[in-house]
Amino acid sequence: MKGIIFRSLEELVIENLGMSVWNALLDEHSPAHRSYVSAVSYPDEELYALANGVAEKMALPLPDVLSVFGRFLFGSLAAKHTAVLAELDTFEKLIMAIDSVIHVEVAKLYDEPNLPKIEATIVNDSEILLDYRSPRKLGFCAEGLIYGAADYFNKQIEISHNRSVTQSGEHTQFVVKILA
Ligand code: HEM
Repeated sequence: MKGIIFRSLEELVIENLGMSVWNALLDEHSPAHRSYVSAVSYPDEELYALANGVAEKMALPLPDVLSVFGRFLFGSLAAKHTAVLAELDTFEKLIMAIDSVIHVEVAKLYDEPNLPKIEATIVNDSEILLDYRSPRKLGFCAEGLIYGAADYFNKQIEISHNRSVTQSGEHTQFVVKILA
């Protein structure tokens, strides 16, 4: 996973729990003297371990932590990649462009990123179906990212999902309802 993702988690933890909690999480879950560089890849296991550490500290289930993190992460990614989002001026356009535009541009900007496969289908004016597939099993993070995209456009949405189609978490289907 790229450093930009870890740096966003770091920002969220420091903002909400403080620097000492982040340092304690690093001590426990990452190699000595680790500092994350946005464009560099670090082991996925390190991200899961840090996210688990946050879940333990906050006494929250891991899926909730991943979802809250995804929501925050969208803002970080959008702020650092304004050019990628320039043409995507509505929530619906952005969601439809995750695979075909956003992650295509990400693959040009980063060396061998590990990206999910996301297929979006418009059902009607107020409903989009989203199909997430990835061996990294970060469907809850994807859910948070979609809420983050809605925040970005001041849209109110509600997401329901069949937790996991494959049980393992590699394939999740979401229904995104646009409320206002
Ligand atoms: C990785 C979904 C928007 C850049 C990921 C991952 C997910 C995801 C779930 C984790 C990897 C995996 O699950 O396999 C989404 C969704 C988005 C969205 C649902 C919109 C609602 C964006 C935007 C950017 C972006 C706006 C930046 C322009 C990245 C980057 C990675 C990533 C840099 C990390 C790749 C790596 O670590 O190798 N995305 N994403 N994404 N995404 Fe997106």
